[in-house]
Amino acid sequence: MFENVIEAMVDAVLVVDVEGRINLNNTAAASITGYAADELRAMTIGTLLVDDSDGMRTVVRRRIQDGSVVRRESSWLVTKGGERIPVSVTGSPVLSPTGDLQGIVLVARDVRDVRRLLQEKEAEIAARKAAEAEVRLAKASIEEQLDQTRASLLLAERRATLGTLAGGVGHELRNIAQIQVAAVDELSAAIAANEDVTLLARQIIPDLERVGEHITAHGQRLMQLARPGPDRVDALDLNTVARDVVDMLRGAGKLRHVTVTTKLADGPLTITVNRTRIEQILVNLVINAVDAIGDRDGKITIEVHPSSDQTRVVCVVRDNGSGIAPEQIDRIFQPFFTTKPEDKGTGLGLPVAREIVQSYGGNLIVESRIGVGTSFTFDLPR
Ligand SMILES: Nc1ncnc2c1ncn2[C@@H]1O[C@H](COP(=O)(O)OP(=O)(O)OP(=O)(O)O)[C@@H](O)[C@H]1O
Ligand SMILES: [Mg+2]
Repeated sequence: MFENVIEAMVDAVLVVDVEGRINLNNTAAASITGYAADELRAMTIGTLLVDDSDGMRTVVRRRIQDGSVVRRESSWLVTKGGERIPVSVTGSPVLSPTGDLQGIVLVARDVRDVRRLLQEKEAEIAARKAAEAEVRLAKASIEEQLDQTRASLLLAERRATLGTLAGGVGHELRNIAQIQVAAVDELSAAIAANEDVTLLARQIIPDLERVGEHITAHGQRLMQLARPGPDRVDALDLNTVARDVVDMLRGAGKLRHVTVTTKLADGPLTITVNRTRIEQILVNLVINAVDAIGDRDGKITIEVHPSSDQTRVVCVVRDNGSGIAPEQIDRIFQPFFTTKPEDKGTGLGLPVAREIVQSYGGNLIVESRIGVGTSFTFDLPR
């Protein structure tokens, strides 16, 4: 019965006596070690089962002596050919009916497959870890590159913004300087013709004062590009501002042959804004309208009225000029978009105007039909 059981086992089974001599073995023990059964019977366990320090012999002997159990000790089974096979050894004592130790049953399990599997798994884990490390490294370098790209984009964007803002200020300076040049020309011509210039001077001086105010404000704005600060604001009546701007442009000959009509509200419509900024919006819109009319006889209407809910002031600048092509209308507010010759347009008038309106919480919108005309409408909080 006992022999049948050990024979059926795939592990090597060796039964040793108290001296360590092998008394019994199964076929698996013979085939793993390469020894025939009778060869095994002539051997002691110490020559067959060794560990690195050769301590197995001692372990087995000691265990045999104190009759204790050996549990899964790692050691080597030495084959007939001298090969060392890694095994895990379990041993249990064989006791006589009176309780005396008669020997020990050793079961040695070949762990090569398990080890190989373990090694394969370990290699797999190591490979995965290496791949993960590589991915982490690649990710870190991509993130670093992204950070750099982001930083340089930000810088480029800031430069472009500064460029556009500076361009916008330059654009306004040029507009206003033209008004001054026209006024001074007119005055010089009158003096050259020995005319009495008192009346003319009385008309022109307020314009020149306004030009001076604009130049000061634009200078301040250029300085603010480096260190932004708030604009000075005043409570102004948009009716008055619109009338003054038309007078100033007319005085400077900017309106040419165009008829400009103002349709103003009955009472004052007060907005709290920076005067120069609001004048800039109107100057840009009116000059664009004059350009759109060109050499034809044309008409510009400037309308100022309260919004229907009375909370805002609305201003419309309408012309019967060329109109804007549908494929261009989405682009007119982009900085530097212009359909005018290089020496005439920079494409900054509308973006500047829209930026000012939006900075006060309003909006600037356009409606246009080619060949019929265009209207620009902006609103500002009262
Ligand atoms: N009232 C208008 N009628 C027809 N087209 C207009 C009108 N206002 C603007 N546009 C179109 O929008 C474009 C952009 O206008 P914007 O004022 O921004 O620049 P610009 O007038 O071309 O140049 P500048 O920088 O001198 O103002 C113009 O070139 C023109 O094609
Ligand atoms: Mg313009």
